[in-house]
Amino acid sequence: MTKRFYITTPIYYVNARPHLGHMYTTIIADVASRFQQISGLETFFLTGTDEHGDKIVKAAQKNQIEPSVYADRISKMFKDLWPELNVAYDKFIRTTDPDHIAVVTRVLQAIHDAGDIYFSQYEGLYCFDCERFYTERELADGKCPDHGTPPEIIRESNYFFKMSRYQNWLIEHIKANPEMIQPERYRNEVLAFLREPLEDLCISRPKTRLQWGITLPFDENYVTYVWFDALINYISAPGYPDGALFNKFWPHAHHIIAKDILKPHGIYWPIMLKAAGLQVYQHLYVHGYWNIDDSKMSKSIGNVVDPLHLASVYGTDAVRYFLMREMVFGLDSNFSEEALRQRINSDLANDLGNLFSRIMTMAHKYCQGAAPDVNPDVRAGKRADLSEPAMAAVADYCAAMENLETHKALSAVWHFISIMNKYVVTNAPWELAKTENRSRLNEVMYNLLEGLRVISGLIWPVMPETADKIRRILGLPETGRPIMLEQINAWGALSPGTAMGKTISLFPRIDAPDAPKSRPASNKDGSVKDSPFTAGGTSADPSAPTVAADPILAANPGLLLSIKPEITFDDVAKLDLRVATVISAEKIPKADRLLKLGVDLGAETRTIVAGIAESYPAEKLIGRQVVIVANLKPAKLRGVASQGMLLAAVSDQGAAVITTEKPVPPGTTVK
Ligand code: MSP
Repeated sequence: MTKRFYITTPIYYVNARPHLGHMYTTIIADVASRFQQISGLETFFLTGTDEHGDKIVKAAQKNQIEPSVYADRISKMFKDLWPELNVAYDKFIRTTDPDHIAVVTRVLQAIHDAGDIYFSQYEGLYCFDCERFYTERELADGKCPDHGTPPEIIRESNYFFKMSRYQNWLIEHIKANPEMIQPERYRNEVLAFLREPLEDLCISRPKTRLQWGITLPFDENYVTYVWFDALINYISAPGYPDGALFNKFWPHAHHIIAKDILKPHGIYWPIMLKAAGLQVYQHLYVHGYWNIDDSKMSKSIGNVVDPLHLASVYGTDAVRYFLMREMVFGLDSNFSEEALRQRINSDLANDLGNLFSRIMTMAHKYCQGAAPDVNPDVRAGKRADLSEPAMAAVADYCAAMENLETHKALSAVWHFISIMNKYVVTNAPWELAKTENRSRLNEVMYNLLEGLRVISGLIWPVMPETADKIRRILGLPETGRPIMLEQINAWGALSPGTAMGKTISLFPRIDAPDAPKSRPASNKDGSVKDSPFTAGGTSADPSAPTVAADPILAANPGLLLSIKPEITFDDVAKLDLRVATVISAEKIPKADRLLKLGVDLGAETRTIVAGIAESYPAEKLIGRQVVIVANLKPAKLRGVASQGMLLAAVSDQGAAVITTEKPVPPGTTVK
């Protein structure tokens, strides 16, 4: 019977665009799924979006649209992004799908009927951003450990799920299945948590407070707590209770998450499954967090990495490789563009790229562009110099991949690549070509070409495009499909006489960007910094990947923007925009947001009141060039006459003043 493998990512909240963190989890799930495919398993790969709850309502309100419209838009961004990154999911679930809602309703009713849900009044400390209650002991200095904000005391009547009843069962289950939560540190974390008495889980929110959710089947005045709704996606997507996919795949379920959501997955979810009479998932794989240039990735710092942008600058395969090679599964990792470039240049351009083009160039020069004929012992691996290290690499690679240790798996492959590079040097085919020893030359070349074939198979789960390129040029037929481990392992599979294609440069070197960046990100203080994630990527090599337009945005113009009605050029021409230099700046007393600026317009100075005090300390603005609307009718703001308006980009990250790309004389017109 074919073995099966069901892999899931968390379903992502639709309150923000996809970023590097989502990208990593989804790519590693894709890599795991592809690896199991080449191992001969039948796979089912699920991802999707988590769309109910307060967070989404707030984000929609900010954009002045209905939650459902907002959820549709952001969900589409996730759904469209993954194929761009060569993520081949089998199903994309949305928690607003009617099928999912029906399953949540059913599970709630079943647990209610079994007597595991009760109604009670509760007073607790609630963090609105996390959408959950906290116990005193979970708080950090009395504040939410994630948001740093003090929780609010809420007293309300709600429905509770009797999790406490299952505490001992869960402890025993985790102990009896030591592999269930991996790596071990996270298993220990869950067990440590379970050493304290488990509180029952509040699974409802009154509709007086929140309507955007799934109505409880046993009380229409309440919606379901978003986590209870979301976790059920893992069974609703394959068609619980009696869908064919559910029966086939649920016994082989593996979840991948990051450490931020360990508690719901390590505690709530197994208990929910047990209470519903279902088998617990097989494995929970927990990875660490990506930090950016050594700080936390966050909107307010302005260092959120856009996956599409990264892939369009550096190439999808290169970014996939970097993420899989750089992060030690389970630990936090640091992302920087410099580290990415270094890996591309050393591992991809130098080690793999050069090896490939050297071998292919020699195959054309010394073997007339076809796999050479060799002694059968060389094909059988008996007398093949590289078959042993190749098979050792396959074994190490597989052992690591089974535990999602992609960094180890790839380093096993690169160890073999380094052996191949040394083999080229020590056997110097160019010297052999000068002698009469044709058969040794053929043996060496055959070993090298076979080595490349093995490498192409092993890198397929991580770099499917590159694997296919190599295989096409090696003259192998199976492109675009998984290359089974059985085939990879069969040393000698390359038939003598197979015609090779012309070599190409797999990975052009990427130089550090020195030209001005095309999309600078702003620091918290609004100053423009060299962003590691913006285009720039000027490469000396004309075939280097170039900055492509963001295809998702290109396909959805006006996405998330509500554009004002059209105006004519004459309307624009009425505005007199000028560059001014800030010469003084001070806070306006009792007005948190306002700064009083003195600006030099060349021929005159003006006073301008600007609502940017929360984004800029006054002294930071002095000497800056800004852009103002110079012909706006003066107006009094908090008693100060403002003689113009300062232009700034305003988002939920605060304000960023508009400035010129280089200094210009004050008073210069902007058009
Ligand atoms: N909607 C919940 C999950 C429900 S699953 C039933 C949620 N969504 S989320 O959008 O916040 O995604 C959290 C997940 O995104 C993390 O567990 C991880 O997979 C990924 N990442 C988000 N930021 C990350 C990093 N900085 N680094 C690595 N991955 C992180 O929680």
